[in-house]
Amino acid sequence: MNSPEVLTTAPSTDSREFSITQEAIDRMQPVDERTGVVISSLIRHLHDFIRDVQLTEKEWMTAIQFLTRAGQICTDKRQEFILLSDVLGVSILVDAINNRLPPQATQQTVLGPYYWEGAPERPMGSDLAEGIIGEPCFYSGVVTSLDGTPIEGACLDVWSGDGEGNYDMQLGSTEMKARGKFVTGADGRYWFRSIKPFYYPVPTDGPVGQLLTAIGRHPNRPGHMHFILSAEGHKTVVTHIFPSDSPYLDSDTVFGVKDGLITEFLRHEPGQAPTGETVTTPFYTCEYNFRLAPVSLGATQA
Ligand code: BEZ
Ligand code: FE
Repeated sequence: MNSPEVLTTAPSTDSREFSITQEAIDRMQPVDERTGVVISSLIRHLHDFIRDVQLTEKEWMTAIQFLTRAGQICTDKRQEFILLSDVLGVSILVDAINNRLPPQATQQTVLGPYYWEGAPERPMGSDLAEGIIGEPCFYSGVVTSLDGTPIEGACLDVWSGDGEGNYDMQLGSTEMKARGKFVTGADGRYWFRSIKPFYYPVPTDGPVGQLLTAIGRHPNRPGHMHFILSAEGHKTVVTHIFPSDSPYLDSDTVFGVKDGLITEFLRHEPGQAPTGETVTTPFYTCEYNFRLAPVSLGATQA
């Protein structure tokens, strides 16, 4: 970012510097009430911000060029504006406002850009890590309602990068890897094999990467396994689980870590895994139970 230019005159309180805000709001004829509320608040806060920092013309142009580059780098596989929202804490703030779940429910966190819709349903116990590098990890647990009743027919849509933090789509794969859906039986239990997730940086080759450098922030996310949990009568939860020994748990660049989502991954020497199979390298186990809130809770607005 550029350093502020020295302003030669003090701001006057009776000039257009101030009257332009109400003028811009009064000019609106919004199509509905909510649009009017949102856009007038946006104008007010944006103008206040500009007055607060006494934005220079050079800084304004830097911002315009930043937004232009963000738009230009977007493709159907890359969304720089969502990344911007993530690193500024906006995505997690929108989540917090819209998903006020009871404390005992599994908490929601960011979806991230690497979700690939349409992962195949796999038999319980399948290995999602076929063809990818990483330390083996056996995941298991139970999906229940808030009162602890197991949920039959709960769907777990699971995905992660490989053991070095790279997602299939980042590696140019046209085939899904480390992804799958599992549907629980009457006992609500799930189990599958994958890898222990590894920390990784968000994409830094665009304007958001430059912004992170300019404000002295690292681009890393702690290791995490992504889940979307859905079940009839229950609120769908987009979430992750994080190994408790991962670096960056206290400084996730997208603010996605919540205490209840951090869990221990136990390390085992080579030998028999919980599935009965023999593993010839050290491996991990992770047991994590998901608790889903009823649809009637959680949503705060229509
Ligand atoms: C992810 O978890 O994959 C992710 C989330 C937000 C920004 C970038 C990556
Ligand atoms: Fe991720």
